Amino acid sequence: LSSAFDFNSALFPLSASGAGAGYAPIGTSNGTEGYDLGNGQQNLEKNKSLTFLNGLSLVVGLIIGSGIFSSPASVNSNAGSPGASLIVWVVSGILAWTGAASYAELGGAIPLNGGAQVYLSKIFGEWAGFLFTWCAVTVLKPGSAAIIAIIFGEYIVRAIVGAEVGDVSPWFNKGVAIFGLLLVTAINSISTKLGARTSDVFMFLKFIGLLAITVIGIIVAATGWGYNRDALSHTWKTTNWFEGTSSSTSQWAVALYAGLWAYDGWDNTNYVVGEMKNPGKDLPRVIHTSLPMVIVAYILANLAYVFVLPTEVINSSNTVAVAFGQAALGPIGSLVLALVVSGSCFGALNATTFTAGRLVYSAGKEGYIPSVFANIGLSSKQQIRLPRRSARAKLLTGLVADDAGFFATPIYAMLLNAALTSIYIIIGDFTTLTTFYGVASYLFYFASVVGLIILRVKEPELERPYKCWIVTPVIFCCVSLFLLSRAIFAKPLQALIVFAFIAVGVPLFWWRVGP
Ligand code: ARG
Repeated sequence: LSSAFDFNSALFPLSASGAGAGYAPIGTSNGTEGYDLGNGQQNLEKNKSLTFLNGLSLVVGLIIGSGIFSSPASVNSNAGSPGASLIVWVVSGILAWTGAASYAELGGAIPLNGGAQVYLSKIFGEWAGFLFTWCAVTVLKPGSAAIIAIIFGEYIVRAIVGAEVGDVSPWFNKGVAIFGLLLVTAINSISTKLGARTSDVFMFLKFIGLLAITVIGIIVAATGWGYNRDALSHTWKTTNWFEGTSSSTSQWAVALYAGLWAYDGWDNTNYVVGEMKNPGKDLPRVIHTSLPMVIVAYILANLAYVFVLPTEVINSSNTVAVAFGQAALGPIGSLVLALVVSGSCFGALNATTFTAGRLVYSAGKEGYIPSVFANIGLSSKQQIRLPRRSARAKLLTGLVADDAGFFATPIYAMLLNAALTSIYIIIGDFTTLTTFYGVASYLFYFASVVGLIILRVKEPELERPYKCWIVTPVIFCCVSLFLLSRAIFAKPLQALIVFAFIAVGVPLFWWRVGP
């Protein structure tokens, strides 16, 4: 199987070569020599081709997604004032930055595919890696896909009904969200190539959207020009930017979770490590360039929102870009921005479906979940071979078919992900889901970064191509701990559900792996 389906190791969230099983605990590893690297390392060694610029565009492309077009309402309404929201955007950006720097050190010290699953297994034992995988399959992957799908649905509906129309039934949005989800699931089931092409096509839309918003915002602020001058925001010139700032730490926590959503994806930096030509030098450069870049881009976009839109409008919908387009450029502007942003979300949904499929697939191969999810194609028998084709047919299908033909993908894994994602789409909304996702993801980010500190103490001699300033992980741990503790008060139900999922994972570990 592995020879026929040599999925790009960079896109493999878990190493198919057995990450998770049979790790030497820290004490027994061969110390300064690093870890036994197994097959995963061979894959990494094969393509050490990424340069600084490749790494940079990869990370920036992974981080920028739905959040900057949808989080502002949740950030603003919980922080209470434009000034406070800007602080939230800076703080969540810095938190992501310290997290990414910490993960970069972990990625260099434990150069295996699999991210948190591998770090937690190495540092705390396989049970911790198992719990992460369990939560990634049941909460993190479908939860994040649901958020992106919901934003996709809301923007598409706005594109159809127009910016001015008032409330639309949430079920309409959710229906479109599920339709988009099924579409990307079908695309990625048909072939890996088709999935990858789809991501490429939609990738650039988010940059266009973000750039357009920033430029238009600055022009409007500087010239006072706009489609409907009376509807433009003048509050930013007159009012105190901090008027109305919330004094509730729980509200600040919810605002931070919404901001963190927009910066999420920074943990993917460690997928880049093994592929880089010169990770020791380039990885820190990638992190310390990409995150400040994204932070500045997000601050500019938020300033643009504040320059163009009155606070009540920003607070009132998840489709801030549509209201922005309407105010600055009129119906055409709102339509174009609605299409650009929904295209951007579609691309992100497609990419996350791809990686989720591989993650669920690897969990199936590990025996963590039933083995049917590790099937490639529809039947458990090896492959659906394509009949011999004419040269022209080959040329046509070659654009979208993989070498092994169609449906040579982890279909059941993607179906499981689509089913769970649909449940989250049906029961959740944007703010609920970003908090829920934030609690679950920051719990594991926190555990991994605590692991980094433990690793520094236990194995000071371990080779670390990149060593971050020790204050970095400490800041990350403190702020994450604050966020996690506040979530219990701010959104007890969501926090409870996350803990329930983790609790269910414990007996499951005994069953699937053994005590
Ligand atoms: N920051 C992205 C957005 O704003 C979300 C990233 C989702 N998380 C992930 N690990 N891919 O849409």
